[in-house]
Amino acid sequence: MKTNLSSTAPSQLETDCLIVVALDRAEKNGNGNSKPAPAIESSDTAVRDAAKDVIASGEASAKPFETTLLHRPAGLKAKRLLLLGGGKAAKFSATELRKLAGAAVRTLKGKSIRSFAFVLPESGVTAADGVRALVEGATIGDFDPGYYKSERKEKDKEQKIDSVTFLVSGDTKSLESALETARIVAESQNFTRDLVNEPSNRMTPTILAERAKKMAAEVGLGCEVYGADQIKALKMGAFWGVAQGSDEPPALIVLRYDPPGAADKVHLGLVGKGVTFDTGGISIKPADGMEKMKYDMAGAATMIGAMRAIALLKPKVKVTAVVCATENMPSGKAQKPGDVQIAMSGKSIEIINTDAEGRLILADGLSYARQLGCTHLVDAATLTGAVVVALGYVNAGIFASDDEMYERFAKALNRAGEKMWRLPLDEEYKELLKSNIADMTNAGARYGGAIFAAMFLKEFAEDTPWIHLDIAGTAWMEEQKPWIAKGPSGIALRSLVEFVKGYGA
Ligand code: BES
Ligand code: MN
Ligand code: ZN
Repeated sequence: MKTNLSSTAPSQLETDCLIVVALDRAEKNGNGNSKPAPAIESSDTAVRDAAKDVIASGEASAKPFETTLLHRPAGLKAKRLLLLGGGKAAKFSATELRKLAGAAVRTLKGKSIRSFAFVLPESGVTAADGVRALVEGATIGDFDPGYYKSERKEKDKEQKIDSVTFLVSGDTKSLESALETARIVAESQNFTRDLVNEPSNRMTPTILAERAKKMAAEVGLGCEVYGADQIKALKMGAFWGVAQGSDEPPALIVLRYDPPGAADKVHLGLVGKGVTFDTGGISIKPADGMEKMKYDMAGAATMIGAMRAIALLKPKVKVTAVVCATENMPSGKAQKPGDVQIAMSGKSIEIINTDAEGRLILADGLSYARQLGCTHLVDAATLTGAVVVALGYVNAGIFASDDEMYERFAKALNRAGEKMWRLPLDEEYKELLKSNIADMTNAGARYGGAIFAAMFLKEFAEDTPWIHLDIAGTAWMEEQKPWIAKGPSGIALRSLVEFVKGYGA
């Protein structure tokens, strides 16, 4: 899908379909009720005239994602005019616009339209933020997870958006860089989703490492992959404890971005959970829903995708990603409840539940990132079912040991249009980690499971400022939405890239 900018007047553009946003500008009356007052977001009077009748009829009311399609609109060079509802004007922002662009792609793909033009709304967003939201939204909306459907090849030929033109007023030159940045970020997000979408037989730790290596070579990142021998030599007893039960070899993947002119005070470390399949191990999971545990490497895929974007956007800050990839399997070689493992940091861990494996591999990932000299750490992991209980599928959980770092991340979230909710790390929770035989247990708290897992990780981040993202509930869309397919979401990548850029500006 090609994306480009044009400052042609919307009514003068020849296209298969011209899309304009309709916003509801109704003001509340005394009862708090109001009739919708849809208004077309374009200063082109010919476009507004073409939409006049259908709006007057009440058929188009500007409800979010409502689509009203007019063929051969009078006075326009476009073959079709699509009115896309954007909801209340007062609430409209780049976040809504991003979703509308995704919805446009998904709607028009189904109608076998090949190219279309989208008029940048004039209210609620600046031109640069608007272009960025449109390009990101359209690219994310274009992702289709049906990789192994036999009719896929035919469908790809028939239902394919070749190009999208974004219509802006005034100079397009100054907006080209917003378009380019957005394209890089959104394509990296789709790269992450591609890795997450693959089932575990086609995305083993070895394959994940190969994909990371190939990407690194393409964009100019350093990349090393270590196997079982080096994992043992590094004394990563927590990581190896999980990996030992599987016939598939584990992989420790390191991606390095070290640009000239980077400030030497900051070295960001991105640590990802890459469990390519989580059976639970000896503490095996129930069969119902276990197939979903192929996405237990989403944290890893997010960090790999973020590194791709970082390499292409070139912020002036040193960044290293550490990805711990393994399966979690039951077998004659698997670790068992009650086993004690010694982590790389030297701390001993009593394994109460082999299904609490993510925190084990991340423990050593965090220690390793510290050993490599990282001054600030962020990890991403599909870590706990408990975060889904707490926050559902809407917000990811975010934990931070450092308020300044959290504030930076919160700003990045806002710019990226992603949702996360901060959860606590009070000292009182530390009580829960106690073991009779070792420095700590890996599981056991009945309540507050997401916090317990975060408190466990904190023991390994030690005094390095650290953020933990628990994306168990948000890395996979359980339902399709107008703007995005069911399947891998690519959550956290955009915020991570924005956060890293903040250190390199
Ligand atoms: N990978 C799971 C967490 C998960 C749950 C991810 C749902 C995505 C969706 C993790 O390894 C796990 O099994 N966690 C256990 C921990 C428990 C045994 C302490 C959980 O949350 O049940
Ligand atoms: Mn598990
Ligand atoms: Zn897991």
